[in-house]
Amino acid sequence: MTANPQSRTQWLGRWGFVLAATGSAVGLGNIWKFPYMTGEHGGAAFVLVYLACILAVGVPVMMTEIAFGRRGRGSPIDAVRRVAAESGGSSLWSLLGWMAMLCGFMILSFYVVVAGWSFAYLWKLLSGGLAGGSVDDMVAIFAANNENPWNLGFWSTLVTLATMAIVGKGVQAGIERSVSWMMPGLVVMLGVLIVYGLFSGGFGEALRFLFAFDAGSLSSDGMLAALGHAFFTLSLASGAILTYGSYLPARASIARTTLTVAVADTLVALMAGLAIFPVIFANGMDPGEGPGLIFMSLPLAFQAMPLGTLFGILFFVMLSMAALTSSISMVEATVSWLTDNRGISRRTAAWGTGSVLWLVSTLAMLSFNLGADWTLAGRHFFDWLDYLTSRWMMPLGGLGMVLLAGFVLKSESLRDELGLSPRWHALWLFMARYVSPLGILVIFVDALGIARVEFGVHWPWLLAALVAIALVGELVSPRLRRVLYNES
Ligand code: PHE
Repeated sequence: MTANPQSRTQWLGRWGFVLAATGSAVGLGNIWKFPYMTGEHGGAAFVLVYLACILAVGVPVMMTEIAFGRRGRGSPIDAVRRVAAESGGSSLWSLLGWMAMLCGFMILSFYVVVAGWSFAYLWKLLSGGLAGGSVDDMVAIFAANNENPWNLGFWSTLVTLATMAIVGKGVQAGIERSVSWMMPGLVVMLGVLIVYGLFSGGFGEALRFLFAFDAGSLSSDGMLAALGHAFFTLSLASGAILTYGSYLPARASIARTTLTVAVADTLVALMAGLAIFPVIFANGMDPGEGPGLIFMSLPLAFQAMPLGTLFGILFFVMLSMAALTSSISMVEATVSWLTDNRGISRRTAAWGTGSVLWLVSTLAMLSFNLGADWTLAGRHFFDWLDYLTSRWMMPLGGLGMVLLAGFVLKSESLRDELGLSPRWHALWLFMARYVSPLGILVIFVDALGIARVEFGVHWPWLLAALVAIALVGELVSPRLRRVLYNES
């Protein structure tokens, strides 16, 4: 890959990008994180805010990022700088690229630990180490797995090595093609678990927990968590989607690919919820158990169902693959920046990045054993990495990107790139200018306690009022009218 934007590598056709982006989006975020966060934040209200955030913030931000990547043809830093410069914007906008790159790196530092859990559980299933049929057994197995830093470190190191080997060799395309069988396979496995759940006696309660919306049950923190998770699960504001977008051929439709990825990602998450919560409720487990939730609950289901060991093995193979197709996307921004700007080979870039990553991820891994007491404000290092990226860096990065797209760029710039009809473009612009930024801001303001707006009563009205004001503003805005009625 060279710094020359014209000769940059491209995906092979539309499906190359869709597979890669889906591979990046669908991962531990859907199957590990979404259920345990839903459990921690009380269920349906969290799910509802998460879905609203996907639609109102995630989709517009994703379109913006892909468009930035393709227009700027470079790593997030270079692409955002070029796109801003093209419209006379300040080069300071490239800070958004820096933050995204850092964010991808920080996420990967704890992601490899969780991916390591998945590999470790696959190994346990293969070697008969998941015996025992009670909840207590499962809790003990999870604890024992984490207690020993050598064991945990072995698995996270393995994931780091695998990620860097794939990225270094530049064979992502081959791995991402695995998405075309792995994704349907994962859906089938989740389907098996859901069918099992139907007979487990916990299904009704799970449905109620996930979808019976009760306005009182969500805190400001839960809303911020839902917003952050919408970014996390779609791989936004962390360099992944933007960098992948920089390899997108000119003719592919950004809107259509975005919708495909967002729908697939959301379906997998909801299916994971429907697969896991029946097991939780049928066994009287606590939905707010935390990050170990799927590792303590799913093995119980696999033990109780016919052919369970086989299904369990298939499930963890696919979960591990899904984790790898996500983890390789998190370093792509850094590797692409290093190869473009530092004149080093992809291999050197990958192994260099991997070495630093290994150190940081080892610290994250130690949060579960030796470093369990190394906390700051009640969070250990693993939690800090997750908290800073999901709650703050990604939403802020996304906010910056939609503001840049909506207010700074010349209207032709992204109109050419997105290639939407005037009306759809106007809708996108309206989302990028008002709905997404105001949505992010309202949640931030609420979370910071600057104005404690109560969920269920005030904030939707506040949001509606802000959007209405914006709409009136837009109706008289000559710029939007230009976009709407005058193509030039
Ligand atoms: N979206 C991935 C998942 O849900 C995680 C991810 C975050 C990937 C940020 C890339 C960048 O597992």
